[in-house]
This record gives sequence, C-alpha cells and structure tokens, in this order.
Amino acid sequence: MRKRPGDVRRTVNERARAARVELRRVTRDDLAVLFEHESDPESGRLAGVKPRDREAFIAHWERVIGDETIIEQAIVVGGELAGRVACFEAEHNGTPTWMLGYWIGREHWGKGVASAAVAMFLAEIDRRPLLARVLATNPASIRILERAGFTRVGETHEPETDRYTAGLVLDYRLA
Ligand SMILES: CC(C)(COP(=O)(O)OP(=O)(O)OC[C@H]1O[C@@H](n2cnc3c(N)ncnc32)[C@H](O)[C@@H]1OP(=O)(O)O)[C@@H](O)C(=O)NCCC(=O)NCCS
Repeated sequence: MRKRPGDVRRTVNERARAARVELRRVTRDDLAVLFEHESDPESGRLAGVKPRDREAFIAHWERVIGDETIIEQAIVVGGELAGRVACFEAEHNGTPTWMLGYWIGREHWGKGVASAAVAMFLAEIDRRPLLARVLATNPASIRILERAGFTRVGETHEPETDRYTAGLVLDYRLA
C-alpha cells in the first residue's frame, strides 16, 4: 500500500519517540563529549574527516558558537549527549550553499538516532535548498539522507586535504 505524507510524518515522530531523541543548542559544556565523538577513528573513517587536536577543535568551536549563521544542535537521547546536527553556509562549486552535517557518538549507532534527529532538525529549519556531501563508502549516512527526502545530484572524486581524506563524495540535495 502507498504511504501518504501524514503516514510518513507519523513514522518520523514515532521513530523520534522510540529513540527518545531531543534537540537543543550546543553549549561549551558539550565540547568534551563532542571532541571524543570526533576523535573516534572509525567515525572519522566513515565521514572521511581527519582528527584534529583539542586546541584546534576548541578554536573551531569558539568560532562556531560566535557565528549567528551557524545552527548547531545537540542531539540528546534519554538525557545523554549522543551527537550533533548542523546547518551552515559554505562555498560549493563557487556558490554559497546551506549545508547539512551530523555526527553521532559510536555507542549510539544503529538505534535510529541520526534518522530521528535529522528528521526533527529538518522540520525546524527552513533553509532550502540544503546540500549534504557524503562519502560513497558511508551507506548509513546515504540511507539517512534518502529517507529524509534528499536526492542525489552529483558526485566528485575529492583529493586529500588537511581536513578530509580522498574519496568519491556524493552530493545530496533537499529542495
Ligand atoms: C552515519 C551515522 C550518522 C549514522 O548514525 P546512526 O544513528 O547509527 O544512524 P541510524 O541508526 O539513524 O540509521 C542508519 C540507517 O542506515 C542503515 N545502515 C547502517 N549501516 C548500514 C550499512 N553498512 N549498509 C547499509 N545501510 C546501513 C541502517 O539500517 C539505518 O537504516 P534503516 O532506518 O532503514 O534501518 C553515524 O554512523 C555517524 O555519526 N558516523 C560518523 C560521522 C558521519 O559519518 N557523519 C555523516 C557524514 S556525511
């Protein structure tokens, strides 16, 4: 049987409730846990992001917290900080573009947390179009984006940089 839009929204809400996911602003008190999440090698490999030291991490977050254009939300599960989801502007193919990003601590993987958090975030944030860039070797993230309504609009073989590993990066867009 075909799903109607109301059925899809109900499914999202049910999943969020089942995963006990809440979103709130990131504060400085969250940074120690977020640093642990970002320092996990398996997570970095999936995301194609290289680890940075604590000093660079804190300097980055001081800029983020002071920048009104960046929306960074903490993902809280059962009262525990489980990750973060963000929308920020970046240059993409020479054009300023709203980007989506998210990161879940490994101990919370596989429980629907990212899917529920991204759905809640997209319901709150009306910046469109939104672009998400994902390594072709990150099937969980691809699944999350497709379930959230993103469609694949391109792919690029990206070279290694100071911050990112080399790889085939897929572009997903939400209109
Ligand atoms: C990718 C990531 C966000 C997934 O978070 P999560 O909370 O475990 O994801 P969810 O449980 O909400 O859902 C993942 C979906 O991918 C599916 N999935 C997981 N691993 C998979 C795999 N190896 N192959 C195919 N599908 C997979 C799950 O079954 C689920 O789909 P379903 O709801 O249809 O069953 C998490 O691993 C992470 O933060 N990784 C490090 C940072 C990162 O990669 N960020 C994204 C950069 S684009």
